[in-house]
Amino acid sequence: MLRLMSGDGNSLDVLREYDVLLVPLLNWESSASGTFLTELPNEVLDMLNAIYDEVLDTKHPIRVVFVTSCSIGPNYTEGVTSLVPSASPLLGLLRVARMEVPQVALLCVDSDTYDATELASQVVNELEKATPVTGMKKASPIEKAMAFYSTNREVAYRGGRRYLQKLDLSARMPIYIGRACPVLTQTLAAGPILITGGTGGLGLIAAQALAESGAKLLILASRSGAESLPNNKKLQDLRDQGVGIVVEKCDLSDEEQVFDLLGNIRSTYGSIRAIIHASGVQDNKPILYQDDDSMDCVFGPKAFGAWLLHVHTLEDHLEAFVLFSSVASLFGFPGQANYAAASSYLDELALWRAAQGLAAVSVQWPAIAFKGEPPKNKDGMQTSLSVDAAKQVMKQLMCGTEAITPVQAVLPEASLTPTSPTVASLLQPLTALGKKTQSQ
Ligand SMILES: NC(=O)c1ccc[n+]([C@@H]2O[C@H](COP(=O)([O-])OP(=O)(O)OC[C@H]3O[C@@H](n4cnc5c(N)ncnc54)[C@H](OP(=O)(O)O)[C@@H]3O)[C@@H](O)[C@H]2O)c1
Repeated sequence: MLRLMSGDGNSLDVLREYDVLLVPLLNWESSASGTFLTELPNEVLDMLNAIYDEVLDTKHPIRVVFVTSCSIGPNYTEGVTSLVPSASPLLGLLRVARMEVPQVALLCVDSDTYDATELASQVVNELEKATPVTGMKKASPIEKAMAFYSTNREVAYRGGRRYLQKLDLSARMPIYIGRACPVLTQTLAAGPILITGGTGGLGLIAAQALAESGAKLLILASRSGAESLPNNKKLQDLRDQGVGIVVEKCDLSDEEQVFDLLGNIRSTYGSIRAIIHASGVQDNKPILYQDDDSMDCVFGPKAFGAWLLHVHTLEDHLEAFVLFSSVASLFGFPGQANYAAASSYLDELALWRAAQGLAAVSVQWPAIAFKGEPPKNKDGMQTSLSVDAAKQVMKQLMCGTEAITPVQAVLPEASLTPTSPTVASLLQPLTALGKKTQSQ
């Protein structure tokens, strides 16, 4: 394992003399400790902040290239399945960093080669392609998007082939509101289904959706358990419909508590059939103010919790393992470096599980309009997802009526056009970069 440069300033004060900083994060293996998930993002965060301290007050252009080794998709290859997708939080973290600090271009090269010469040529290839772009003032949105990706790439090399991330809007899952309600398989409907964060907004929507699809026993878990839901009408309605609702206390970032919860469910209700992992908290702040604590508190319930559920249910042969990620992982979102990093981990964990033949889907949710109709943009398109649409997505994910990919983006109407605010937010860093470069 190669350590990152320390952020004490001494090793970075020569940064201004360089155009490219290479950061090898090779063979970043998992460990049994609860902190392994945050080690890498915490160190990357420290390093980015040290770089920002050093170069932001100058106009020195610098590109930082993170080199990882088979730690992210695509196509987990032979031998890789014994590794955790441990570098994956990097993706979400860097997507936010690019938005917040566009002056520093960030590339990520994930390769399967152990040949130093070949690896070096892949990195050089990326650097040649990633020339900072100037004069974009009059460029079209599409040209700006292409330029943005060319300076801020995430790319993987597998067997000499080069893979780029892409957002395929044509692959969006149609949401059939108003169609006949799909039903769960018999075993899914009969067995216990665990919903972590089941007392929260989306957790309760998931519970309602599953009940409408035939679920008979739902275990809702959160730190506060039933205390947070005294006399809850939604739960009472479900119970009135004959659905067994059990609310348990469990801190998903505590391995012993997770182990005990799973054991108690099995011994009381039989083998666990499905898990919906909706636990999570947010601690939003600019990347320059993020620290180990803000990283850890978001990673605990979301990413580490997902890992614990994965490890401790391997013998259960789950029919569904649904992780609640966010479009913050897909697009990045200013102020959410920790949250986007944890969400990216969920996405890669789902891909990695699926590569091993295990049930898995990570849902990149957009904002949900919990109260009333979703707001609309000036073109009359919805900018967030209605509760009914969220329920329908849950049903389609759980009832197997649609082809589901391990990472499923759910985008509101307004995000589905190339000129949508979401795509525009991707362009924002480029606009800022263009302005700064032109003013030099
Ligand atoms: N709502 C959205 O618009 C949206 C969009 C994208 C993604 N998501 C994701 O979807 C998930 C659910 O969102 P939500 O809107 O339902 O959030 P929420 O209403 O704040 O609910 C979060 C749930 O997680 C539980 N929780 C927090 N920390 C926990 C821990 N350490 N152990 C166990 N449970 C814990 C909370 O209960 P306690 O506090 O009692 O533990 C609560 O039940 C989150 O992971 C969120 O990131 C939501």
